[in-house]
Amino acid sequence: MGYTLTFLGCGVMGQAVLSAIYNAPKVTDAAIAKLYPSKIIACNHNDETAMGVTKLIESLPPSPNGIIVESTFGENDRAVKEADIVFLGTKPFIVEETMRKVKEHMGEKLLISICAGWTIEQLTAYSRNVSRVMTNTPAKYGYGCAIVAHSPTVNENQRAIVSQLISQVGKYIELPEKNMDAATALVGSGPAFVLLMLESLMESGIQMGIPLKESKECALKVMEGTVKMVEMSGEHPGVLKHQVCTPGGTTIAGLCVMEDKGVKSGIIRGVEEAANVAAKLGKKK
Ligand SMILES: NC(=O)c1ccc[n+]([C@@H]2O[C@H](COP(=O)([O-])OP(=O)(O)OC[C@H]3O[C@@H](n4cnc5c(N)ncnc54)[C@H](OP(=O)(O)O)[C@@H]3O)[C@@H](O)[C@H]2O)c1
Repeated sequence: MGYTLTFLGCGVMGQAVLSAIYNAPKVTDAAIAKLYPSKIIACNHNDETAMGVTKLIESLPPSPNGIIVESTFGENDRAVKEADIVFLGTKPFIVEETMRKVKEHMGEKLLISICAGWTIEQLTAYSRNVSRVMTNTPAKYGYGCAIVAHSPTVNENQRAIVSQLISQVGKYIELPEKNMDAATALVGSGPAFVLLMLESLMESGIQMGIPLKESKECALKVMEGTVKMVEMSGEHPGVLKHQVCTPGGTTIAGLCVMEDKGVKSGIIRGVEEAANVAAKLGKKK
């Protein structure tokens, strides 16, 4: 019999992580199988959102590792009491109110938080065992990235559980907590920045007369292919970029205009600004 994992707040990100854990491929190694919950309780505030989680689970094939999901609303107290591990996925501004109400049932239960701006130190008000995670929406499709930091009391077994569960969203990277604001910007907000680039490429095609559908297909494949090329070659992006630049050719001409327009520094400064806002989120509480 495995353990119970309670999601306090199971909206966009919570459902992405829940589906990734629920859909994890069948594990045959008994030691790894023990890292998965046998039951997940998803807690939300409204009936409608709870129903959304039920429909999501119904739309999926049965969990390969036999995980059962119960979706509830207004039952945080009971769900945290039943939990062995609590996953916190509410919006940052209601963390204090939500956690205060269930604190008496927390004890030393592992608290895994994905809430932007909430530091490990702040969260230790509810349990001394905290794993702080920053992930992103592609997690829903298994192509997410998760940056993770633990409080010093999180033990080996708990670290193994967090690593096994959270790596299901895609890539799992442990970093010191001091990097979390930067990770919030680069990883959490990152998809929006990449979508802006994708949309711009698409619109460049439309501007020059390529129909919308084909412009989208071209832009998507260019992005996907470029990422794969960097991954598979192991080369620095700058090296690959220069390989595409024929002297006096089209690519260098386009790159020069982009440099004139400050595209690169605009991206760097934009991500940095997102990190500044993430740092302020923590201080508002
Ligand atoms: N979205 C992203 O791209 C992203 C990326 C990285 C990190 N994050 C972090 O992920 C967290 C969640 O963001 P999100 O985008 O998933 O927000 P969301 O879709 O609004 O989900 C939050 C959920 O919390 C539920 N909730 C509200 N009050 C509650 C309560 N008292 N008890 C239990 N559940 C309650 C809401 O349920 P109802 O709908 O029933 O009110 C909602 O389903 C945030 O802290 C954010 O910083 C998000």
